[in-house]
Amino acid sequence: MLSGKNIVLGVSGGIAAYKAVEIVSRLKKAGATVYVIMTEAAAKFVTPLTFREISGQPVVASMWDEPKQWNVEHVALASRADLFLIAPATANVIGKMANGIADDMLSTTVMATRAPVVLAPAMNTNMYLNPIVQANLHKLQSLGYHVIEPACGLLACGVEGPGRLPEPAEIADYVATILNSVQDFKGRKFIITAGGTREPIDPVRYIGNRSSGKMGYALAKMAAKRGAHVVLVSGPTELPCPPGDVRLVKIERAAEMREIVLKEYRDADVVIKAAAVADYRPQQTAEQKIKKTGDTLTLVLEKNPDILKELGQLKQRQILVGFAAETEELVANAAQKLAAKNLDMIVANDVTLPGAGFNADTNIVKILASDGKVDELPQMSKEQVASVILDKIYGLLSKKC
Ligand code: CTP
Repeated sequence: MLSGKNIVLGVSGGIAAYKAVEIVSRLKKAGATVYVIMTEAAAKFVTPLTFREISGQPVVASMWDEPKQWNVEHVALASRADLFLIAPATANVIGKMANGIADDMLSTTVMATRAPVVLAPAMNTNMYLNPIVQANLHKLQSLGYHVIEPACGLLACGVEGPGRLPEPAEIADYVATILNSVQDFKGRKFIITAGGTREPIDPVRYIGNRSSGKMGYALAKMAAKRGAHVVLVSGPTELPCPPGDVRLVKIERAAEMREIVLKEYRDADVVIKAAAVADYRPQQTAEQKIKKTGDTLTLVLEKNPDILKELGQLKQRQILVGFAAETEELVANAAQKLAAKNLDMIVANDVTLPGAGFNADTNIVKILASDGKVDELPQMSKEQVASVILDKIYGLLSKKC
């Protein structure tokens, strides 16, 4: 699965460093050659000898061990890497990378590599949630670094929450997925919208819907995995930004979504509108909280612009994909939207079916193409549905050029 691949594993100094031994073992069993670089702090948790024995390769533990060799070595390892994994990645190493500091063997080598870099942060929960660490991680993600979300659980320091290094098997799988993924969307810009919009009634209330954002985020994740540059325009959700070249723009109102999407549209290759956009908004947003005065309350709603329809009218070379969440007449309603909005494809789902509704991890969809073809997919995970949609988009893009 990984034969012929060179993986450089950077181990930084956290208690989870011992788990990196099993990561080396798993990657090696999968056929990869693994070169380990340790920070000086990491070498206090696990000895370089352990990594040397498991990897079968010399281990670089200090920049000053072999002063004649290190410079050559760090450049050689940086360019030999097919993938650079840092596990565990401490707040310190993340901070250095995000700020261009290269003062030891690990930070100099990772700065010199052009290979995909995967970070597996592991640290105390409060450190992980510290806004500085979060900002550093977001910065690295926006630059194309992959970040594996830490697991939640009881940490060595006794605190419970996110910050635990995921299981070595999970990290090895992640690495394999990146190394084996086809980069067929390299150089392509995708705009993907996700989640539901919120239209404010007053400072504390809004009109919203039950969209979880999971479908849109799955699309963003899978498109980025295939090399796309993704602008993910998302309504409020708890979901983390998918790894890879994904720029997450958070919005609340349909009008904000429209503004971002239109701004990004001109040089986009593909737009996928998985978001559930509110069709109407309160005509007026009260400046103060509305008090309960009478037995009834009447809100006057006015129409929001149909963003997708507008994109259809402006369409030049872009591939436009819509979603249609329906409760009846699925195919007929979706076909009508496909034509009315000048789309290339529409993904229709009956939200009343179990396994297809809002917040589910699976979906059951029918994909309608502009040539009248309808594909019925069985119940699948949202990531699998995303892959099928992306394969179809790839077909459409290939026909265009
Ligand atoms: N959409 C949009 N802007 C809107 C409403 C919908 O861009 N104001 C997009 C959605 O993101 C989706 C597609 O249009 O990709 C279809 O949305 P849907 O809510 O199913 O259909 P509507 O056109 O709003 O029609 P209706 O609500 O009457 O079914």
